[in-house]
Amino acid sequence: MNNDLIKKDYLKKIKIIQKYNKYYYDKDKPIITDQKFDLLKKEIIDLENTYLFLKNDQSPTESVGFKPSKNFKKIKHKVPMLSLGNAFNEEDLINFEKKILNFLSLNTSNSIEYSAEPKIDGISASLIYENGKLIRGLSRGDGKEGEDITKNLKTIKDIPQFINAKNFPSTIDVRGEVFIQNNDFEKIKNKFANPRNAASGSLRQKDPEITKKIPLKFIAYTHGFEKGMSINTQSDFLKHLKLWGFKINPFNKTITGVNNLISNHENLEEKRKEIKFDIDGIVYKVNDFKLQKRLGFAANAPRWAIAHKFSAHNSISQILNIEIQIGRTGALTPVAKIKPVNIGGVIVSNATLHNEDEINRKDIRVGDVVKVERAGDVIPHVISVDLKKRTKSALKFIFPKNCPSCGSKTIKDFNEITKKKNVVRRCIREGYECEKVAIEKIKHFVSKEAFNIDGFGKKIVENFWELNLVRLPQDIFNLDYKKIKVLEGWGDLSVSNLKFSIEEKKNISLERFIYSLGIRHIGQENAKLLARHLKSLDNFIKLSISKKFNDLSNIDGIGETQIKSVRIFFFNQTNVKVLYELKKKLTVTNASHVNENGPLKNKTFMLTGKLEGISRAEAKFLIEKNSGKIISNVNKKLDFLIIGEKPTIKKISIAKELNVNVINQDEWIKMLNKTS
Ligand code: IVH
Repeated sequence: MNNDLIKKDYLKKIKIIQKYNKYYYDKDKPIITDQKFDLLKKEIIDLENTYLFLKNDQSPTESVGFKPSKNFKKIKHKVPMLSLGNAFNEEDLINFEKKILNFLSLNTSNSIEYSAEPKIDGISASLIYENGKLIRGLSRGDGKEGEDITKNLKTIKDIPQFINAKNFPSTIDVRGEVFIQNNDFEKIKNKFANPRNAASGSLRQKDPEITKKIPLKFIAYTHGFEKGMSINTQSDFLKHLKLWGFKINPFNKTITGVNNLISNHENLEEKRKEIKFDIDGIVYKVNDFKLQKRLGFAANAPRWAIAHKFSAHNSISQILNIEIQIGRTGALTPVAKIKPVNIGGVIVSNATLHNEDEINRKDIRVGDVVKVERAGDVIPHVISVDLKKRTKSALKFIFPKNCPSCGSKTIKDFNEITKKKNVVRRCIREGYECEKVAIEKIKHFVSKEAFNIDGFGKKIVENFWELNLVRLPQDIFNLDYKKIKVLEGWGDLSVSNLKFSIEEKKNISLERFIYSLGIRHIGQENAKLLARHLKSLDNFIKLSISKKFNDLSNIDGIGETQIKSVRIFFFNQTNVKVLYELKKKLTVTNASHVNENGPLKNKTFMLTGKLEGISRAEAKFLIEKNSGKIISNVNKKLDFLIIGEKPTIKKISIAKELNVNVINQDEWIKMLNKTS
């Protein structure tokens, strides 16, 4: 049989299995026995293993058994549902604690108490109760906006619908994880890639009757907004959750000291095999709610919590090819295409090789038998090569010196801080001029944290690029829908959905807009800082004319590296053109502070010296929270110089010369307390 016929046969089998799935789940009327289903699935997997070119997204090993509905109403979370930073080892935990102590201006002899909670690998949900009644249930969605899946959540027995405890808050958003136990997953495992997919797929069914059939569980662990709760610690909150009728994790603990966190981690990792549900690490939360409040959030994750992942799963495979991927900032990343292997329930066929130095150090070659590791949601990577299994024909891998996409020169930047050459090789045209970079930039532009255009996934970007429908970000707002409608897989409904999703995102905040541009070193946090400083899109665009990039050094948190990056961005005329074109199509809302009318409104501050009992980061956080602005140079725009212990004398004398108010910590605190 030639390859075309094999592919035809394979696709036919996939179509049939999809039909069976549809009857099983959507129509609730299975049309074949489980044994026959399993047999067909095995035939498909055997074909994929024999003919590697066959595998695609629709494979039963990749896709969930049935598609979740897209028809849920979207509702904004009153308090965003954030994600967590990851820790993998003791060093990460020591750093986590160090940062907390620094922020709180405590010395290292202080200890922090944590609530240590096994991290269930499921789907988070938010349950809103008013006067003891469950009135709404939402999915996490993009963290800011979730889907209304109340009816489906109500089918889960662990979720109380009425709570009649006297100390239950009058309003509360109880959050936790929806998941499926391993023994229950066994029964339906041929329909889903893993337990997490099973939970997510069943939770987002159009028909709650289908959800009801899947034995989903719920464990509660945190809350969003609340009214009338007087609890001071996370561990006490967990106890209350139990009293109120929620299930909580039986392995939750309260722990002090990194050493003790580590031994609890080791114990639990050992026990993991015996636990009825899948856990992929432990979440540590600073136990004291007051401290949590002081620590606050950075970008997408709280400073007061972290997920300590369990060690990776690994497997042996063979390198079929080494490809060079080009990222949105022009970085060349080598990726090993490997013989597909199942690692911890997930089929892995790509593994990152990180960079050129890593390939050389490990002497990784095409054809090598390698150990591949996959830890949680981190990209799988090659750990070692089995040299005994190397064949004579395996040649040393030569890393390309030119960009495989546009042929330009590639360079390794010199890092001014480490005084070493960067390990990452980059295409010198890190803009839309390099095809692969451009595609990645557009993928970033539409991604969740950026424009968040629903249904505009990576595959669509690639497809539209190939068809010449999208070359630059503004093309997204000028799509020729007539052309799209006739494409395979598209129709009236999907085109109007896409149109709607794009229209919906034409209003965007300045910080999201800046982040979407994918400027190197300008992530979400830095985009926010730039937006707050520049205030409007016009001011941002004006940088291309005024070239006053050095003014950005007034922003606390923006350094040389970021300024250099912004300068390079504006130096590229295509980028400037993109900005003008986007401006015509979009309404970019001006940046505003969280609280625009705080007691420090319209005042600028600078700190010098050490403050008592409060870190520089927390002081900055408090100033911004109260509508003040931080600048990091003494100049005419500065209103107050706050002096702590051992200040820089020169700063004080310049401030005095410029008639800037020089105040001490007490005077500053008084200003903070004036109206709050
Ligand atoms: S707290 C800001 N506690 O982990 C606090 N999350 O990566 C974030 N998760 O989306 C949530 N067990 O789905 C928290 N005991 C636990 C958790 C937990 C599992 C999941 C949750 C969240 C993700 C964060």
